[in-house]
Amino acid sequence: MGNNCTIFACGQTGPGKTFTTEGESSPNEEYTWEQDPLAGIIPRTLHQIFEKLTDNGTEFSAQVSLLEIYNEELFDLLNPSSDASDRLQMFDDPRNKRGVIIKGLEEITVHNKDQAYQTLEKGVAKRTAAATLMNAYSSRSHSVFSVKIHMKETTVDGEALVKTGKLNLVDLAGSRNIGRSGAVGKRAREAGNISHPCRLWEGHYCSCGKNTSCSLLRI
Ligand SMILES: Nc1ncnc2c1ncn2[C@@H]1O[C@H](COP(=O)(O)OP(=O)(O)O)[C@@H](O)[C@H]1O
Ligand SMILES: [Mg+2]
Repeated sequence: MGNNCTIFACGQTGPGKTFTTEGESSPNEEYTWEQDPLAGIIPRTLHQIFEKLTDNGTEFSAQVSLLEIYNEELFDLLNPSSDASDRLQMFDDPRNKRGVIIKGLEEITVHNKDQAYQTLEKGVAKRTAAATLMNAYSSRSHSVFSVKIHMKETTVDGEALVKTGKLNLVDLAGSRNIGRSGAVGKRAREAGNISHPCRLWEGHYCSCGKNTSCSLLRI
């Protein structure tokens, strides 16, 4: 039991997908991360999820993961021992026709919102960013931040009920404007690969089964 939801930020390179999903920090440590007006959807969501769970006094456990897909290869941004050459492998899930399994992706257990945010920050810092003339900061990688919550509830009959829900927040790299971006050679090829719809989207994250929703945020 539980709900699954995926939100994709999609659009060309530059208009603010990463700004919207990850967000930024105001200068001079003016705000705490959860109050920062520049915070993106991911920190805001983490804040709300944990506030709600703690306010309700719910017994829960939470795990987060951060996957990067760069040039059609998968990297774990939360595995402290992995480096840029450690690629993850993806397999079809024998239990779910449209699903895939990502072997070895770390799911870090976090106990509160600060831990969740710090974990996210470390992962984001590792994210591969390749400069193009169009937008020097913008990464050409896709990233998928996931938070999985197990909640324990007790039914009126006194039975223990465990619900599991997963939220995936996806920051897609945009590359439709390769010409204007000035990317050439290998970079242009990489940009081309980025625009291909990965089977991952529909398989792992968008297999709209029971209790699953999927939204596209066009930026
Ligand atoms: N709403 C916004 N307010 C202020 N700066 C923004 C906003 N949206 C994007 N930016 C800035 O524009 C630049 C490109 O945004 P970015 O999120 O990297 O684009 P994308 O991920 O879509 O390629 C960044 O420097 C970011 O700080
Ligand atoms: Mg970006």
